[in-house]
Amino acid sequence: MDNILDKAYDIETFRKKGHALIDMMADYLSEATSDRAEIQAIPWQSPKEQLDYWQKDFRKPNLADPLDLFERVMDRSIQVHRKRYLGHQTTPTLPVTVLSAALTALLNQGMGVYEMGMVGNTLEKVLTEHLAQKLGFGRETSGFITSGGSLGNLTALLAARAAATDIWHNGYEDGQQLAVLVSEEAHYCIDRSARIMGLGAAGIIKVPVNEKFQMRTELLEQYYQQALSEGKQVVSVIGCAGSTSTGSYDDLRAIAAFSRKYNIWFHVDGAHGAPAAFSPKYRHLVAGIEEADSVVVDYHKMMMTPSLSTAVLFKSGGDAYKTFSQRAQYLWTDQNTEEWYNGGKRTFECTKAMSALNVYTISRTYGDEVFKENIERLYGLAERFADMIRANENLELAYEPQCNIVCFRFTAAEGDLSKLNLAIRKALLEEGRFYIVQTVLNGELYLRVSLMNPLSTEKELQELLLTIEENASGVLQL
Ligand SMILES: Cc1ncc(COP(=O)(O)O)c(C=O)c1O
Repeated sequence: MDNILDKAYDIETFRKKGHALIDMMADYLSEATSDRAEIQAIPWQSPKEQLDYWQKDFRKPNLADPLDLFERVMDRSIQVHRKRYLGHQTTPTLPVTVLSAALTALLNQGMGVYEMGMVGNTLEKVLTEHLAQKLGFGRETSGFITSGGSLGNLTALLAARAAATDIWHNGYEDGQQLAVLVSEEAHYCIDRSARIMGLGAAGIIKVPVNEKFQMRTELLEQYYQQALSEGKQVVSVIGCAGSTSTGSYDDLRAIAAFSRKYNIWFHVDGAHGAPAAFSPKYRHLVAGIEEADSVVVDYHKMMMTPSLSTAVLFKSGGDAYKTFSQRAQYLWTDQNTEEWYNGGKRTFECTKAMSALNVYTISRTYGDEVFKENIERLYGLAERFADMIRANENLELAYEPQCNIVCFRFTAAEGDLSKLNLAIRKALLEEGRFYIVQTVLNGELYLRVSLMNPLSTEKELQELLLTIEENASGVLQL
């Protein structure tokens, strides 16, 4: 078998390497969950060092064994399964999804039309209907899965625009200014979506937040009237459940009441926090979500699924078909019919990964209980972490956390606290044992922890605070 292509498709090599890779990944997982102090969450290297390394690697002769490559990729990547990974909202994927993701890669379903994703398109319907029911939606709901919260929010907001005005077909009229009302703490993808839709800076009306970083819903009326007086047409009011920096949940009931009063599309960005609905203890945080016209939920944040996998739900199923209407005769015969099984009619993507299999595998293996447990464990751990910060006179909590995102800073020093906390976080990053991030709140820099790993415990959090204090005294001595 000399031909390179025949060699590349060799099945026995695949079988052998596959077994070895599974062993390697199992070793990684068992090390990740061990308590060894020297285990790193991030093997930090600068972009230049990384680029030099891979440019050199790329020039080398072909690999004798891909496992050598996989091992080096693992060793040089941030490791989200480490108990001291406490950074961005990326989930330590459930091991069973590593298996379903491998199968997804093998089957490589196109998904755009039914034939190219018979199982996948059907799983999307089953899963999104179930999620919608968890959120309290009625029977009219429909949904699908798309590639990420950013694209999900854009898709939902395009539907909001289509419900208000037919710009999709007609383009903008002279002087027509559309707008959305959203908390100033919303994820940047909302701003980006609005700009992509042609709303411009004037069309993104940011409503101020309160001391818990929730939208001040009592200001909605005033901001709306102001928009009207400036000749703007408000096509959507958007609630955060929760917001990215602080994990704050807007008062969705109040936003729902406002949107009802003026018949404005109510969208909820629940990318991070909507799965609170799985927990009887925390579901109050999303009260009112069932009144939304559309909701976005990232399975790949709080539902332990590999990236990317985002549910876009529409309360009124037909709305899902209004977003994109285009002729694609080679895919489907009639654009105007509502066929849930032809995925491409409702998503931005044409070809799309069958990521539904990952979520479906979790659901069928462990049921809703695993989502409930994950939320309760992580939100509960955040409450205890907040207690630790409160009890430490060198630290200050930025606000009362509502979910698994906690922002705080070291304050036992004179001078520029933002600069000091930036240096603390830089020292943490370069040392690599812990991974946390930073954010700016009210113009000041804070340290930010997202508790994403249900295997993290108070022990790691206590060690983190100790390391922060050590780093602070190291920085202050410089
Ligand atoms: C609240 C919120 N919405 C949307 C997004 C964007 O989602 P994605 O990264 O899946 O595109 C994020 C990402 O952190 C988020 O926190």
